[in-house]
Amino acid sequence: MLANAARRLGQTLTRSLLPMEALAVGALQQQAAVTSGPAGAVYNVGKATNIKFHDGMVPRETKEQLLGQKGVVLWFTGLSGSGKSTVACTLEHALAARGKMTVLLDGDNVRHGLNKNLGFSAEDREENIRRIGEVSKLFAESGVITLTSFISPYRKDRESVRARMAPGDFLECYMRIPIEVCEQRDPKGLYKAARAGKIKNFTGIDDPYEEPLSPELVVDAKDEAGNMQSAEDMAATIMQYLEARGYLGAPAAEASDSEAATA
Ligand SMILES: Nc1ncnc2c1ncn2[C@@H]1O[C@H](COP(=O)(O)OP(=O)(O)O)[C@@H](O)[C@H]1O
Ligand SMILES: [Mg+2]
Repeated sequence: MLANAARRLGQTLTRSLLPMEALAVGALQQQAAVTSGPAGAVYNVGKATNIKFHDGMVPRETKEQLLGQKGVVLWFTGLSGSGKSTVACTLEHALAARGKMTVLLDGDNVRHGLNKNLGFSAEDREENIRRIGEVSKLFAESGVITLTSFISPYRKDRESVRARMAPGDFLECYMRIPIEVCEQRDPKGLYKAARAGKIKNFTGIDDPYEEPLSPELVVDAKDEAGNMQSAEDMAATIMQYLEARGYLGAPAAEASDSEAATA
C-alpha cells in the first residue's frame, strides 16, 4: 500500500507535461521572447522580463478527482437584462445542492475590485473581458465549475478568451433574449437612461452586441412549445448539458492499486 503510494508520487513527479500544461507553455512560447537564464529557459512576457513557467504543481486531474467534477468555464453572454446574473446564480445554487464546487464572476461585482480602474470604452471592455478570461481559466484549470456573467458584447474578445483555453474548457452560453424583453424588464432603469441619452455606449442602444456565431448553448426566452421560460427552467437545461457531457463527474481515474497488482 505504502509502496503503491510512493510509486504514484514518483509517477507524479517524473511525469511528462500534461496536455493543459503543454498548451500553456506552448501559448507562452508563442507570445514570449525566449532568452536564457541561470535556471534554464526564461521568457519576456508583455512588460515582464525573466519569467519562467513553473512546472510540477499538483495536476489538474488530481484536483478534479478531489472535487468529483471537471473544471470548465460557462461563459454567459447577452444584453443587459437578458438574465445572465439570474440564471448563473440559479444554476450555481443548483450545482452547490449537488455538491459541486463553483465560482461565479459577475459583471458589477468584478468592477468593484479587480477591474475598478476600467470603464466602458471599447478598449476598457476588451481589457475587462481579458482579465475575467484569465481569472476564469485559472479557476477552470483548478477543477472549478466557473460561471461568468458579463455582457461581453464583442465577438473578438470572447473568441480571445476561448482561444486561450483547451477544447471543451470554454462553453459559451448565449442568452438570446430579444431587446424588447430586456428593455421591458429594465430592473436598474438603464435602458430608460440610455434612451434618454444619460448613459452613453450602452449595448444594444448606441453600442453593438455581436451575437455568438457558434455558441455551445443558446437560451431563448420561450421554450419549444412557445411558453416563457423561468430562470429555473433555463438553469435546468444548462445543468442537463453539463451532465450529459461529463462535467459533473470526476475524470476517469488512472489504474487503481488492485488493477495495477493484477497487471
Ligand atoms: N427567465 C426569466 N424570466 C423572467 N424574468 C427573468 C428571467 N431571468 C431574469 N429575469 C429578470 O430579468 C431581470 C434582469 O436579469 P439579470 O439577471 O439582472 O440580467 P443581466 O445579468 O443579463 O443584466 C431581473 O429583474 C430578473 O429577475
Ligand atoms: Mg448581470
